[in-house]
Amino acid sequence: MSHDPKEPRLPAHACGCGANLNRRTILQGAALGIAGLAGVRPSFAQDAADAMPPQAGDFLVSSLGTTPLSPEDIRLNSNPTEAWAMSPDGVVRSGEFTNSILLLRYEADALPPESAAMAGDGVLGYTLICTHSGCPLNTSLDGELIACDCHGSRFDPKSNGKVAHGPAKRKLPQVALAVADGKLVIAKGFDSRIGGDSVGDDDR
Ligand code: FES
Repeated sequence: MSHDPKEPRLPAHACGCGANLNRRTILQGAALGIAGLAGVRPSFAQDAADAMPPQAGDFLVSSLGTTPLSPEDIRLNSNPTEAWAMSPDGVVRSGEFTNSILLLRYEADALPPESAAMAGDGVLGYTLICTHSGCPLNTSLDGELIACDCHGSRFDPKSNGKVAHGPAKRKLPQVALAVADGKLVIAKGFDSRIGGDSVGDDDR
């Protein structure tokens, strides 16, 4: 997702950039509206599962689908693919914007050992949320780096999301991935806190 911070989208995101809704959220909102008109309400259990962060054993699905992704679905040495975790019983955890995951794929033997340890057949997974002040990251790479257009931070996806250029000071939270029966799965949830560190400050 490429995000122009000047373009407002509702509801407003905590970083002040105006971003929050994505295509799945909009579709879910439309579906809930229709359900409400029909007198149908989703269960609280479903709501809670939607909002849970990615869990070990979850599959990964694209922003628009519910078919578990395989490593080959992620373009090699290319821009990130935006994805969500989906529980084994089919609940897509898109209830919280901060659960969104960026997937990038490399040749497994081209990754340094510390990144290879977090990869599923060369696929790496990072939060969509910048650690500076919480803007959504750009889904187009800047060279080989994950970029944030809000204040210019850059993160190295091949080095566990470490900061390549500030103002961000903290690496990107990362999920550990694995492959089971040809499908990408979460081996371990995010390794650090999701969100910006400078929300409420002057954000520079
Ligand atoms: S929010 Fe990403 S650089 Fe400031």
